[in-house]
Order: sequence, then C-alpha cells, then structure tokens
Amino acid sequence: MSLTAPLPWTRKDLTGIEDLEPGELETVFQHAENFKGTLTRSNKKLPSLRGRTIVNLFMEPSTRTRIAFEIAASRLSADVITITGNASSLVKGESLRDTAMNIQALNADMIIMRHSAAGSARYLGKTIDIPVVNAGDGAHEHPTQALLDAFTLREHLGKDLRGKKITILGDILFSRVARSNIWTLTKLGAEVTLAGPSTLVPRDFEKLGVKVSHELKPALADADAVMLLRIQHERQTSTHFPSLGEYTSMFGLNKFRAGYLKKDAIIMHPGPINRGVEIDSDLADSKRSVILEQVTNGIAVRMAVLYLCAATTGQPTEDA
Ligand code: CP
Repeated sequence: MSLTAPLPWTRKDLTGIEDLEPGELETVFQHAENFKGTLTRSNKKLPSLRGRTIVNLFMEPSTRTRIAFEIAASRLSADVITITGNASSLVKGESLRDTAMNIQALNADMIIMRHSAAGSARYLGKTIDIPVVNAGDGAHEHPTQALLDAFTLREHLGKDLRGKKITILGDILFSRVARSNIWTLTKLGAEVTLAGPSTLVPRDFEKLGVKVSHELKPALADADAVMLLRIQHERQTSTHFPSLGEYTSMFGLNKFRAGYLKKDAIIMHPGPINRGVEIDSDLADSKRSVILEQVTNGIAVRMAVLYLCAATTGQPTEDA
C-alpha cells in the first residue's frame, strides 16, 4: 500500500487535528516541504500573502509558537501584529467574541490564537468570517505542534510512519500536545504508547487507539522515537505525584534509561524543556535529540498552514 494521497485543503480554520483526514495532513506536509526548501535561500521572502494582515492573539505565554508564527507570516510577506495577555482589552472585561469581531472590523485577514479555554479556537472560527488558527487551547489541542512533530518524524523515520513506534512520556492528562499528537500519529498509522505515572496517564486513553504503559523500560525499549512532555503545573488543579524529585526519579529520562532505547531512536520534546526534571540536560543536547530541529520545522509547517487557510478565503494568494 502506498502513502495516503494529498487531499485538497478546504478548511477556513485549523482548530484541531481530530477532524482532519490523513490526506489533509499529507497536504500540509507537502506544502511544508516546499516552504522548507525556500528557507535556506538568501532571499527567504515569498509574495504569497502580500497585503494580508495576520493578528497573533496570545492569551497565554509562548516563545516557540508565537515567534514561529510571526516568522512564518513574515516569510510569506504578510503584516503581523501580536497582542499578548495583558495588552488586550480582554483584561477590561471585553468578551473573546467582541475582541475577535473588532479585530475583524479592523480588516485583519486571519487570527492565530492561544487561549486557556479548551474549544475557544473552534468557537471563534464559527463566530467570525476570517480564518482562525489554533496555537493551543487549554489542554485540548495544539495542532501545529503535532504537525511539526510529525514532519520531523518523517524526516528521521521516513515519510511512511505506518508501524513506527512512538512513545509519548510525561504529563499526558493535561497536555494539548499529547492529544494533537495522538490524533496525528494514529491517523498516519504509527503505533503510539503513552507512558508515565497512572495519575497522569489514565487507561481511558486506550479508547483513542493507543497503548498505555506505567512502566518505563518496555515503553522505551520498543520505540523508534520518544517524545517527552513537561509537567503542566499551570493546568493541574491537584497534586498528581508526591514531588517533582519523585517524578524525575521514576520517569525522568536520564542517560541510564536512555540505554533502554534502540540505538537509533530519536528524542523529541515540544518545549519548553525543564532540564533535570523530565530530561537530563546532557540528553537534551545529545546527538539523538531533535528538539531544536522541531523548533526550526515549526516555521515551514506554519507557513503551510497559513498559506492553505488563507487560500480558502477567495482572495488570491500569489504563487508560493
Ligand atoms: N511548544 C510550545 O508550544 O512552546 P511555546 O509555549 O513556547 O509556544
């Protein structure tokens, strides 16, 4: 059987991976590959979104996602305006809907939003006419993170991820990255194992077609890639393990435990990393770590998403 054929992109918004077809994922990857090729040219700017205005509305902290979206938009020649947490009138009591309606009334062509409320991006996409891209909504989804993770996996393990074994280790329960990766990787045919303490990796996740393991050794031994996740303190409302030190002693990836991995297995992390907690500093900087490659790939993948969503609005995009 061959790889899934790309499908035409018809979605105004990208609010999650759950509803996407494998062929739509393939379309994003193909565009991202093309865009990645342009990023090493001396003139990195493409005219595709010239004259468009993209508003980055980030109501939660971000380094990688926000900057990658800003660079992606700028590489496509769009004008970018970023509004963060306290700098918007949301803190004066304005509703999210009113904020977005006003941004639209100011002739913005697209909103990229990070928000603490699960479902907020989908709600906004249904509320306004311009495209909405989800840059993380609560513990729900972080679609562009999962797309860039899969794009990076394809570069290392081959374009066909069917049968590849990916272990996601850490705080799964509160992670939007884990949810979007589960959807993405299972749609691409990968075999996903979720690992970590039972309080953060409940058996319920098996309903999504993944394995759950509360033992580290077998979860690592089989993996072609291990994706580490940090503990999401900001979303936890109660204690899920006695202390960070105890988490690290049971589930932190250190040199000894990395010895359980296959020789060529890669180590991934969406960032921000907490050195010495979920991963040893030496491992984060080791040859098998692709953490910074993931960050770089975030530009090409987000260029693809911006380009595809913009193309559905009826305004012509200039040739990529
Ligand atoms: N991976 C990720 O979402 O990082 P930021 O929070 O820095 O955007």
